[in-house]
Amino acid sequence: MARWFQRSVYQIPRGTRDFVPEEMWKRRFVQRGIEETFRGFGYGEIQTPSFETLELFTAKSGASIIDELYNFVDKGGRELALRPELTAPVIRCYIERLQMAPKPLKLFYFGNCFRYDRPQKGRYREFWQAGCELLGTDSPEAHAELIALAFTILRHIGLRDIVLNIGNLTVIQAMFERLRVTDAVKKDLLPFIDKSQFEDLFSALRVNDVSPQEAEAFLEMLQTPDLEKITAYVSRSKQAVAELERLRGVLTLLKESFGIPDPRVKMGIVRGLDYYKGLVFEIEAPVLGAEKQLCGGGDYELVSLFGGTLVPQAGFAIGFDRALLALETEGYAFPEASLDVFVVPVSEAAMGAALSAATQLRFQGLSVDLDLVRRGIGKALKYAAAQHARFAVIIGPKELEDRVVTLRNMTDGSQSTCPVTELAVRIRG
Ligand code: HAM
Repeated sequence: MARWFQRSVYQIPRGTRDFVPEEMWKRRFVQRGIEETFRGFGYGEIQTPSFETLELFTAKSGASIIDELYNFVDKGGRELALRPELTAPVIRCYIERLQMAPKPLKLFYFGNCFRYDRPQKGRYREFWQAGCELLGTDSPEAHAELIALAFTILRHIGLRDIVLNIGNLTVIQAMFERLRVTDAVKKDLLPFIDKSQFEDLFSALRVNDVSPQEAEAFLEMLQTPDLEKITAYVSRSKQAVAELERLRGVLTLLKESFGIPDPRVKMGIVRGLDYYKGLVFEIEAPVLGAEKQLCGGGDYELVSLFGGTLVPQAGFAIGFDRALLALETEGYAFPEASLDVFVVPVSEAAMGAALSAATQLRFQGLSVDLDLVRRGIGKALKYAAAQHARFAVIIGPKELEDRVVTLRNMTDGSQSTCPVTELAVRIRG
């Protein structure tokens, strides 16, 4: 067998990543920050399986979504798919187990997702989402709190430059009605709107017999933040006008009650998934360039589609990997992984005392490693420094004789002796 072929068998699958301890330390640090904020907003954690029935994801979007999924038939002949997102799974679980829970119900999750995407920076085939679903209320304050939560999470983990855009699918629907284009044409136009490719959009509108004046007006509505102008443009749709009125209320709450300084109106938000209806929002990190969308969410309907009793549903998901990339690109100073103590037995005779010192310190809640390879003290201390140990505990013949240990502060090199029983207090300072 050719060598290159043998090697490729053992390579990591395309679009996936390994995370070594240094990376996992950063990931868990940020994950903890995110989970803290979810809990701070009254959300409880939910976990669902990594795979579901394929039907769960095709029910709304149709078979065309299969191209974007990892799907398979298991040994029992069941058609399954690795989850591409967590909203549909959470709603399935809600219907099976939580419909009777007091409302509103606030659920958050952190989990891996799988999409058969074309991999590039910030776009992977396995990635992680931190998200939430809010069931049982669609009051303006509920929507404002939801959006504020997404924004607060990203701020709380340390991102400086983020942009919040809010749109509404009922309004964009009313805008489309003015153009009088067919559903098929509309579908073709959505990617241009999604990517803000306005020149291409203008050409596509012209090809579909929309007059230059109408096309210009449509493009302006996609970009203007002026709610008065948009209201005038969709004035024939009572529903759209009502949604714009609600949006005004949400914006005021965000600015005045939730301290979000600059929420932007952007009717050009179309969202990729088919279950959204009214309010939609996205948060971007401009620093990321092409794959800058950090978070997406809004108001949707899946409960009655899956056979549950209709309730208001809204939520969002943050692309965890992109949030990390944005932090790194902004130069965020992550704290370093560190160890409280590294224990060094200087001689073979000290090994027993070193092991029991390590055991005692671990019982007292400190993170402790010790020299397991019987190397000289110089090399052992070098290794301890590489592990970012804050202290070293050195035990040699003299220490054994005096029934003490030497405690070395690894930051300034200062040393003192004390009995093992005093170590934890000294280390904790
Ligand atoms: P989504 O916009 O498809 O929404 O995904 C949310 C976020 O996941 C995106 O903004 C992006 O940051 C990240 N993301 C998506 N695809 C990839 C990928 N291939 N690689 C890395 N990151 C990616 C949803 O999934 C909805 N379920 C959100 C939601 C919850 N809506 C209501 N509730």
